[in-house]
Amino acid sequence: MSNGKVYYGEYLQLDKILGAQAPESEKANVEAHDEMLFIVIHQAYELWFKQILHEVGSVLKMFASSEIDDDGPAVPTAVHRLRRVNTILQVLVKQIDILETMTPLDFLDFRDLLRPASGFQSIQFKELEARLGLKMDERFGKQYYTSQLKPDDKNYVQGIENQPTLIELINSWLERMPFFEERFWNEAADDSGRPYFWSQMRKIYQDSLSEGEQGNLKLWDQEFFGETKGRLSAKAKRSALFIMLYRDLPLFQLPFSLLQSLLDIDESMATWRYRHINMVSRMIGMRVGTGGSTGKKYLKGAMDSHYIFSELADLSSFLIDRRRIPELPDSLAHRLGYTVNRK
Ligand code: HEM
Repeated sequence: MSNGKVYYGEYLQLDKILGAQAPESEKANVEAHDEMLFIVIHQAYELWFKQILHEVGSVLKMFASSEIDDDGPAVPTAVHRLRRVNTILQVLVKQIDILETMTPLDFLDFRDLLRPASGFQSIQFKELEARLGLKMDERFGKQYYTSQLKPDDKNYVQGIENQPTLIELINSWLERMPFFEERFWNEAADDSGRPYFWSQMRKIYQDSLSEGEQGNLKLWDQEFFGETKGRLSAKAKRSALFIMLYRDLPLFQLPFSLLQSLLDIDESMATWRYRHINMVSRMIGMRVGTGGSTGKKYLKGAMDSHYIFSELADLSSFLIDRRRIPELPDSLAHRLGYTVNRK
């Protein structure tokens, strides 16, 4: 009896959670010991997906404000929560070890009873991809979204695309970096009309290229001053590169951590996909998935094409070594120091 006081099992609604395992093999009166593990592990994944969406949702809200104050609590809080997301994802990768204690023969005890259900139908997983920034048009094997998902679920995932995604909000945040308003940036130095700083950077980059890499200069022009082809604009990429180069300046440490945590999320999700593919390969070999996809082939395609933040990772191609990074004018360097130093 709770007597109006909070009681462990009631607070956690354990009657619902612990009463939610209904093996198909029991209904069919077939012996399949491992189906319980299969159900519990999927439920554990879904609970963690829920928590990840809770964290990502809160970060989306913070960045949706055009007034985000780089000196306020929003950026540190976002970094903290995105790191948590990454820690959860690492646990999710590790959880595959538990599932791998089930052998292919154990799985065959109940696999046919599950058709046509599949992890592909995890709407929370698809929502996470969409909230981070994956669009339906970019999804590998788009045809499965129509054949394998209930219309309501497909519409729900697609509907998320109409709301600002994390990569879009990060793009806007990078574009409005306050230091870009400095006179420093606007002093044109060459015929191209580029600010002196960027002409200098281009020259340093050019000098750092080996003979075989000369083509990279064209890429540099395209990335930082060309038209946007991907998810990040040229202006946002200039900011991100600047943060990466000058990350030792106190004011850039958090923005740098933020960019790092986005790359960590991409990497952890790719690692999960990779472990899942290997596990699937051990479990069903060349056979098609219960969801009716090409199985391993579909999963490999999704792994290769569902990165969200790869344009940030690609910026590493344009870094230059520390010794060649131009010194900033004192006035700007002061602004990027600790608050007590800024005038
Ligand atoms: C015996 C274990 C498992 C096998 C054999 C398996 C197999 C597959 C296959 C073949 C697919 C491709 C779609 C299809 O045709 O069904 C798939 C997709 C997927 N599975 Fe699994 N799976 C297993 C366990 C899990 C677990 C524990 C999770 C955790 C939630 C999971 C989540 C997913 C997700 C999210 C997708 C979609 C991936 C994407 O679109 O990139 N699977 N699975």
